[in-house]
Amino acid sequence: MKSIVIFYSLEGHTKLVAQILAQELNADLLELELVKPLPNKGFRKYFWCGKSSVFREKPELKTEIPDLSQYDAIIIGTPVWVGNCASPINTILSVVNRSHKLEGKRIGMLITNLGGSIKKCIKQIEKAFPNNEFLKPLHFVNPSENDKEEIISKIRMWIEKTKQVIS
Ligand SMILES: Cc1cc2nc3c(=O)[nH]c(=O)nc-3n(C[C@H](O)[C@H](O)[C@H](O)COP(=O)(O)O)c2cc1C
Repeated sequence: MKSIVIFYSLEGHTKLVAQILAQELNADLLELELVKPLPNKGFRKYFWCGKSSVFREKPELKTEIPDLSQYDAIIIGTPVWVGNCASPINTILSVVNRSHKLEGKRIGMLITNLGGSIKKCIKQIEKAFPNNEFLKPLHFVNPSENDKEEIISKIRMWIEKTKQVIS
């Protein structure tokens, strides 16, 4: 079973968990980077990132996307922005829809936020992968370096539960 964790992270929370998840799954790891990075501090961060998410913008990716058909499982990692997936995820989802007609894959989601709803974000990802099988979403509320052991144990439990489908 070949897996990849594809993620975007503005402030490092999703990145921390994505790195651990990829390690535990023995999966490839792909961080999405933007041609024009979004601001990651203060009011500008909330304004520009919030706006790009609300308007479902698709900021241009600097990262090259490999051929995803080689993977059996694809896990999309994102923070929640104003109830939606972070806007760079819109870009990868549209690329997947346009040029990587994927079917029969296992699709996972790694979502981090401050505790609000993740339903809209889940729906966005589900919509982009018709004819694929979805794993139970993996959700973390504001994970940090401090709770690394907790993150590892939650991921191991998730892997254990989804073992039949991802190993
Ligand atoms: C523009 C913006 C909007 C956000 N909107 C939400 C939200 O609607 N609900 C929520 O629970 N957290 C929200 N957050 C918090 C992030 O989802 C959370 O801090 C996340 O773990 C950050 O991940 P990252 O460090 O990988 O960027 C928002 C953060 C930003 C920057």
